[in-house]
Amino acid sequence: MENIIILAAGVGSRMKSSTPKVLHKICGKTMFEVVLNVAKEVNSNGNIVAVASEENCDKIKELYKIEPVVQKERLGTGHAVLTSLPKLKGGGRTLILYGDTPLIKPQTLLKMLKVEAEVVVLGFEGEKEERYGRLIQTSGDLKRIVEFKDATAKEREITLYNSGIFLIKTEVLQKFIPLIKNNNEAKEYYLTDIVELVIKNGLNAKYMQCEREETMGVNTSLELAKCESVMQDRLRETHLLNGVTMHDPKTVYFSFDTKCASDVVIEQNVVFKGEVEVGPSCTIKAFSYIEDCIIKNNVNIGPFARIRGKTVIEEECKIGNFVEVKNSHLKKDVKAGHLAYIGDAEVGQDVNIGAGVVFCNYDGITKYKTKVGESCFIGSNSSLVAPLEVAKKTLVAAGSVITKNTKQGSLVIERSKEMTIEGFFDKKFKKD
Ligand code: UD1
Ligand code: MG
Repeated sequence: MENIIILAAGVGSRMKSSTPKVLHKICGKTMFEVVLNVAKEVNSNGNIVAVASEENCDKIKELYKIEPVVQKERLGTGHAVLTSLPKLKGGGRTLILYGDTPLIKPQTLLKMLKVEAEVVVLGFEGEKEERYGRLIQTSGDLKRIVEFKDATAKEREITLYNSGIFLIKTEVLQKFIPLIKNNNEAKEYYLTDIVELVIKNGLNAKYMQCEREETMGVNTSLELAKCESVMQDRLRETHLLNGVTMHDPKTVYFSFDTKCASDVVIEQNVVFKGEVEVGPSCTIKAFSYIEDCIIKNNVNIGPFARIRGKTVIEEECKIGNFVEVKNSHLKKDVKAGHLAYIGDAEVGQDVNIGAGVVFCNYDGITKYKTKVGESCFIGSNSSLVAPLEVAKKTLVAAGSVITKNTKQGSLVIERSKEMTIEGFFDKKFKKD
């Protein structure tokens, strides 16, 4: 297959959003990118032509480094394809996908490529009275497609619907698309009319059926959420089949770029965002939020932990409840069990970070780094004020605010002296 056209010029007014429709995300990627990746999976060398609108073309260009064609007036799917013709490579076949239909599976499209006909349409069986185009066929041969608006009462009874995905011989497309007229209810140029034109010219058209779920399009936020939910189920299934254990899969949310090694255990209510790699034998405990990070072997995270962008956590580390780690590199065996903030830090092997420790990385203007050498013990409720180097084997006493670099092997303590006034309580409250 030579070309893949992605139709993405829809305005998406029903999304009620300032973001163009195809740039809304499911599982961390825009719908456009999801469809683009499907296209690349089906043919990595294919010539991909996106049909964009004036509103979304700059963003698509910037994000995906492709040069879309712009359909200035939205005159129908046939007109959108017409706009793309100058960019098509001659020969072979052309696949047409929708940018707002992100659940289509590459395997389905690969199956479609095996069907031999000038035009192949992907159809699905739906419920009665749905507003899709109807596939009119006799014993497997497609005769024409009639839009709901233009269909007779009898045609409206048909429940074999057009998904919108077409595979057409490129020369057939180039010849017949310019001949499509807009004499229909909607006064639009319908891509679907190409079927009848092709048949009238003695060529043949076939259809292939797929699961209706794959053809689910997005017009509203509600439909976006439904697509997200289907895609989440697919990602959960993939991870489960790869050997990840999940205590309640329905409550774990992945992004497309979550990678989990074998023997990973994920408890309930865990969210993964962006690019995350979880190494073998890690446990991510309940209610943790894990974003753009690398977690190596045998690490325990959570419950209630937050791991943020650009973090690397090496083997055997333990990050406990209410600990937040951001843009930091934690070497092997670091333990931060409770209530800590570790930001912009390098933490050496075997360091223990006590409860309530805060890495003070920001002075209101600039972010600074903290380096903690190996085997340090940072006592509870201390603050490490960056920029700071805590030399290896430093013991920071609980409750200290450390602002100066420390010496290797030392105890640093920064608190007011404790004093005792005996008998004070009874004197103050005159209990005797
Ligand atoms: C289309 C099909 C219908 C099918 C349905 C499946 C036609 C005439 N009808 O109808 O048979 O059952 O999809 O969902 O093809 N687009 C453009 N430019 C345009 C018009 C549309 O880029 O001028 C894009 C849209 O952004 C969208 C896709 O083409 O990605 C489909 O357009 P839409 O208006 O949703 O078509 P439907 O009326 O749903
Ligand atoms: Mg539609």
